[in-house]
Amino acid sequence: MLKIFIINALSDNYIYLLRNEQKNLTSVIDPGEAEPVIKFLNDENWHLDEIINTHHHNDHIGGNDKLLSVYKSKLIAPSYEKNRISNVDIFVSDNENVNIAGVSTNVIHTPGHTLGHVCFYMPKEKCLFSGDTLFYLGCGRVFEGTIGQMWLSLVKLRSLPDETTVYCGHEYTLSNMKFANYIESNNPLLNKVSLDIKNKREKGLPTIPFNLGIEKKINPFLRADDDDFIQSVGLRTNNASESFGKIRLKKDNF
Ligand SMILES: [Fe+2]
Repeated sequence: MLKIFIINALSDNYIYLLRNEQKNLTSVIDPGEAEPVIKFLNDENWHLDEIINTHHHNDHIGGNDKLLSVYKSKLIAPSYEKNRISNVDIFVSDNENVNIAGVSTNVIHTPGHTLGHVCFYMPKEKCLFSGDTLFYLGCGRVFEGTIGQMWLSLVKLRSLPDETTVYCGHEYTLSNMKFANYIESNNPLLNKVSLDIKNKREKGLPTIPFNLGIEKKINPFLRADDDDFIQSVGLRTNNASESFGKIRLKKDNF
């Protein structure tokens, strides 16, 4: 059984430390900075076996070099971003399987936020590391890909089982929650989840992880092909991708 620890980094990043006690393996996902990771590892007296990156943005890879110099870990990163991330040992591509902390993991290419972004899904652990593609009640900004690519990337993640637990790259939940309620005020499940989110943030607790099954019913960005939803929020277009683009633009200007 894998243990997953949340480490706060920079202003609102989350770094995930994965510990497999049985195999004595430790991995880190998206270390935007090294110091909090080193401190955590020192406190536990663990070595760092692997560093995993979802995409090339500095707030996700900024700690790579320092951690590599201290631990000589293996660096695993998307093959599509090979010119943007240095010192990679293992490149991974869509549909490939890779062991992370000794756990079998599927690689899912999710272009949109960056062209080479990948997410990591562990079927046995029922968890997804979604980087900056899927956030709690939100999704990443579309910087490098097209709106159509981002929509298809979210559809891929949406096809994962309802019981999936999602760990994303940032604590953007409160702002996403305000937007979700702004465009859809009459969703009882969203209202219920919003109360829980507000409680957690008032106590300074992370809202991460979150459940994908619930997310499919309340995240506006996952519902651009839901006719009733699109009709009720007045964003009907010719197709789901265009509707998604309208929601994304509305959020960008929110
Ligand atoms: Fe990013």
